[in-house]
Amino acid sequence: MIPANVAEPTIDQHASQPALPAVLFATSEVAPLVKTGGLADVSASLPVALTALGADLRLLLPGYPAITAGLSERCEVGQFEPEAGLPRATLLSGRIEGGLRCLVVDCQSLYGREGNPYVDGVGADWSDNPLRFGLLSRVAALLCGPASPLAWRPDVLHCNDWQTGLAPAYLSFARAAAAPGTRKTATVFTVHNLAFAGAFDPVVLPELGLPAESYGMHGVEFHGRLSFLKAGLYYADCLTTVSPTYALEIQREPLGFGFQGLLAGRADRLHGILNGIDVQAWDPASDPHLAARFNAGSLPARAANRRAVQQRFGLEPDDDAMLFGVVSRFTEQKGIDLILDAWPALAGRHRLQLAMLGSGDRQLTRRAEDCMRRHPGRVGFIDGFDEPLSHRVEGGCDAFLMPSRFEPCGLNQMYSQRYGAPPVVRSTGGLADSVDDDDPAAGRPGTGFVFEGDTPGTLAAAVERAHTAWQDRPRWRALQVAGMQRDFGWQASARAYARVYREAIDLANANATPTARSSSPARTGG
Ligand code: ADP
Ligand code: GLC
Repeated sequence: MIPANVAEPTIDQHASQPALPAVLFATSEVAPLVKTGGLADVSASLPVALTALGADLRLLLPGYPAITAGLSERCEVGQFEPEAGLPRATLLSGRIEGGLRCLVVDCQSLYGREGNPYVDGVGADWSDNPLRFGLLSRVAALLCGPASPLAWRPDVLHCNDWQTGLAPAYLSFARAAAAPGTRKTATVFTVHNLAFAGAFDPVVLPELGLPAESYGMHGVEFHGRLSFLKAGLYYADCLTTVSPTYALEIQREPLGFGFQGLLAGRADRLHGILNGIDVQAWDPASDPHLAARFNAGSLPARAANRRAVQQRFGLEPDDDAMLFGVVSRFTEQKGIDLILDAWPALAGRHRLQLAMLGSGDRQLTRRAEDCMRRHPGRVGFIDGFDEPLSHRVEGGCDAFLMPSRFEPCGLNQMYSQRYGAPPVVRSTGGLADSVDDDDPAAGRPGTGFVFEGDTPGTLAAAVERAHTAWQDRPRWRALQVAGMQRDFGWQASARAYARVYREAIDLANANATPTARSSSPARTGG
């Protein structure tokens, strides 16, 4: 929630720093209204933290039914008639839950669909996604210039992932055409997941209103396709990604996914800033979704949540089994196959239970169902996306599994530490940056179990370390408390974004030539 006294901030509360700029934060999802993953959580919580720091911020969202229905103080503030093949749109203004000010691109023909924002009922991408997210990007750029129906102008346009990636490209071409001396809106592009290139057939280029010269190695072209992600990476003044380790990983193969050359060439503009979490929505002491609320001083109360999870997932009410939890998109990224491969041997050696909540790849969900059938009362799997249940799993399992092959940041490992469920994670991206490995020789408790390698065996060894620690109850308690006491709030990271905003404003207005954008490697790799 934005406290009432900072709802219309004009001054930075930290006198030593200059006032924060006006920010347009463009995103394709926001929790709890439309959420497919962590981007929605970040879009709901980082803007609140920036507003509390003094930024004059508005969210820009597509007008999906859940968004327009969730707007309070809703009013129409303008119309857009974008040129080329993009349809006309109405701009709405209002507030979403928590008080954040929003601008919404209302266009029934593109956004008037229920359910997942990117795919249809059978999981296929909407064929007009380039237009849907082209329009979002176009409106974002128009709001920064003379075509805006608003008196308010952002100093910074902050774009997130491929869905908003064309906006820095549009702005870059608008800048080139602007009168000398015109103050420029700076662009910041945040990569939440480089695996999604937002790549389409280039025939849509004229419909999107992009000039032909944008389609090339020094522009939006990527392996013979038009990539919205490449546009953001190439044209934005500054780039960020969601953890320091991922910022390094994406400058090399394999996690650069073909963009490593471009990213390495822009390394001086690329900042890794660890995500924070919404510490109010994710607070075990007040969480309405839990069967029993608790804090670091009342850990025995977790037992009621543990029983609730066992019951909901069809597991035996066994107090002596160590209960592992999983809440995840079921994709190759998340290493779900490693869990399913490791489980039979682990279950043969120890008294373990597994509660998995997730949806996605059919092959993986079928394998999870099969694992559940083979281990009745020991393994439970619920195929679906269920926000309240995800809180219950965090608050009820003994430990949390997140063996991701790559993880730009990851939020669940932070939620699980906060909920007294030490996570078992692979050493990658934000997992490496947010979990302290428990090493008895270190003389202080860690907050989880971090492993190298990407085989079922390396995961199993980490699970066994966790199981050994769990059997030693005082040691386990110390681990839980160490995780619960960590500060995963947004304060420090919001300040880091504020610094990037200032850097981007300086760069945009100094007529600086963007750093070398070595695009050749971007045409080779994956
Ligand atoms: P990603 O964005 O890659 O999916 P994150 O860990 O950053 O990974 O964020 C995932 C978010 O989505 C978390 O808030 C998590 O609790 C939520 N989530 C993922 N799968 C489910 C599910 N099946 N049901 C409920 N919430 C889920
Ligand atoms: C992406 C990443 C995830 C990150 C989230 C929010 O979905 O896969 O690691 O936490 O974005 O930044």
